[in-house]
Amino acid sequence: MSTPKLPIDLNTAIAHGLRPDWFMRDRLGKMPDIWQEQLLRSRSKQVIINAGRQIGKSTVVAAAALHCCLYQPGALVLVIAPSQRQSRELFIKIHDFLGRLEPAEKLEEETKLSFVMANGSRAVVLPGDGRTIRGYSSPALILMDEAAFIPDEVFDATLPMLAASSEGRIFLLSTPYTPAGFFYQIWHNADGWERYEIPTAECPRVSKEWLEARRKEDPLRFDREYCCTFSNADAALFTPQMLDAMVAYDFEPFNPSRTLFGEDTAANAVSIQAERIIWLKRQLPRDAGLVIDCTGVGVGVADEIERRGIYPTRVAIVHGQDAHWSGSRVSLPKRVGLEDCGADPRRRDQGPPDNQRLADAEA
Ligand SMILES: Nc1ncnc2c1ncn2[C@@H]1O[C@H](COP(=O)(O)OP(=O)(O)OP(=O)(O)O)[C@@H](O)[C@H]1O
Ligand SMILES: [Mg+2]
Repeated sequence: MSTPKLPIDLNTAIAHGLRPDWFMRDRLGKMPDIWQEQLLRSRSKQVIINAGRQIGKSTVVAAAALHCCLYQPGALVLVIAPSQRQSRELFIKIHDFLGRLEPAEKLEEETKLSFVMANGSRAVVLPGDGRTIRGYSSPALILMDEAAFIPDEVFDATLPMLAASSEGRIFLLSTPYTPAGFFYQIWHNADGWERYEIPTAECPRVSKEWLEARRKEDPLRFDREYCCTFSNADAALFTPQMLDAMVAYDFEPFNPSRTLFGEDTAANAVSIQAERIIWLKRQLPRDAGLVIDCTGVGVGVADEIERRGIYPTRVAIVHGQDAHWSGSRVSLPKRVGLEDCGADPRRRDQGPPDNQRLADAEA
């Protein structure tokens, strides 16, 4: 009878069971960064990680998840993110790590959204939707990736799953977002959570020069994406409350004299943005002004719109500087910019901002 091939001796196998950081180093081939090592060695039941982009959040929790599946037979690991596509990204990281194990770990079952190991442990991707997430109990580990973007109702539906599991753990990991929601509340107010705050500057794989270029492009976005800073409601053009109040599900047809449309030009292809803005502009009277924030992606959108024969007023909406004019460009601090064009953010019922005053400023 042949003896099963062991990649490591029994002592090392036991050491890996006790030390997930050594497991990551030796069996997954990645040396944990200092904070990743601390996290892997922690036994806290509730962990919250507020960190910058690309710092290695998903990687370290994927290693923790696989360690849990291997060393706690019968464990259930749940993977949740704002969308199923994002949860699957994390699941794929766990699965990739699984594929690195030598000898290969035998799976009993495998789908695009779950696997079951021979020892009965399971990893399952859940949809980011509070109504369909129920039905799992006593998970050994819940991972909520990009948690600041997960709706509160999903968290509310998830947390009770741990009620009957004295050993169950939950890791919330995210870049910060607005000062609202469960991730923000737990980070600032809750007791009983182990906290990790890791700005991207601490990542040995990201260069200072690359980060400095991002800071120059957009300081506010830089703070949020790379420096663990929640968007500051005071600095924002619209507060979360204003945005909530602006959502209309049941509205009268367009009334151009009372309507200002806004479009966040980030995160979409320039041509798609330009197309949509031109379409919206055509719904308005011919003399309606079109003002484009040319801080960042807006430049390309404005260029594309001009190429199509429409000439917007270019403004730079920035935070914390005095208004200034340079050539044909106008820079306005966000709050003053709003007030300048007639929309006092404290009095939303005042009527529409007057785009023309911005255009006048340029002339
Ligand atoms: N300890 C490590 N050693 C080597 N590479 C690592 C380590 N940790 C993470 N990485 C690599 O760094 C990159 C970013 O990792 P990861 O996706 O986990 O970061 P993240 O913080 O989740 O990023 P995002 O903010 O985009 O979600 C990946 O290529 C990953 O393989
Ligand atoms: Mg990630």
